[in-house]
Amino acid sequence: MLFDTHAHYDDEKFDNDRYEVLKRVHEGGVSYIINAASNIASSIECIGLAQEFDFVYAAVGIHPHNVSESNDNTIVTLADFAGHERVVAIGEIGLDYYYDYSPREIQKYWFAKQINLAKDLKLPIIVHDRDAHEDTLNIIKVERAEEVGGVFHCYSGSVEMAREVLKHNFYISIGGAVTFKNAKKLIEVVKMLPNDRMLIETDCPYLTPEPHRGKRNDSGYIRYVAEKVAEIKGISVEEVAKITANNAKTLFRIV
Ligand code: NI
Repeated sequence: MLFDTHAHYDDEKFDNDRYEVLKRVHEGGVSYIINAASNIASSIECIGLAQEFDFVYAAVGIHPHNVSESNDNTIVTLADFAGHERVVAIGEIGLDYYYDYSPREIQKYWFAKQINLAKDLKLPIIVHDRDAHEDTLNIIKVERAEEVGGVFHCYSGSVEMAREVLKHNFYISIGGAVTFKNAKKLIEVVKMLPNDRMLIETDCPYLTPEPHRGKRNDSGYIRYVAEKVAEIKGISVEEVAKITANNAKTLFRIV
């Protein structure tokens, strides 16, 4: 039983074979997938996929790349979407100072807004933090996101930051980057991460793990992440799969 807690099957890279890929990875042992949204249109597609496939669940939200498009209606629309029974989280939301596609002040404003939406709806959040560790953690604290908790997806921070993240009621999700040659810092994070706060993900079609780096990613490759985590933790791949799937079910309240 493998649970891919972060995927983007609404991405155009899956336009030619989305259904085939989803069927194949499910038959191959991926029991659950959370499809995370990046804007309003993608939120609708995420819900559509979750309706179509009983092993896919949706998150709705505006990615920091796209928050410039947001307006007064955005929160109302997201709240409406979130009422759908297949929606289990608000995400992905956060800050991206690597690409800076949206001005930082606007990113911060919409991150805080969406945290408060999640609190109103009592849904966990899926956090995107790229090169914005300090501000991300700060907003999490100021807005009291710990009331709903959630996950730092594709975690890329330090061990010290991971301790803070855990203290504020968040899980840490490990992605394909853990298989990369320069994964030293992330390996230290996996070592310190308590088993009951650990999740795994692909972030497909992006961030393809070794040995397939460079190719399109899909949830089938989550086993490379699970294998690497198992090696670091000194437990079996089956245990990693079971532990992380149970954690994800608890966080996203999937029975
Ligand atoms: Ni993502």
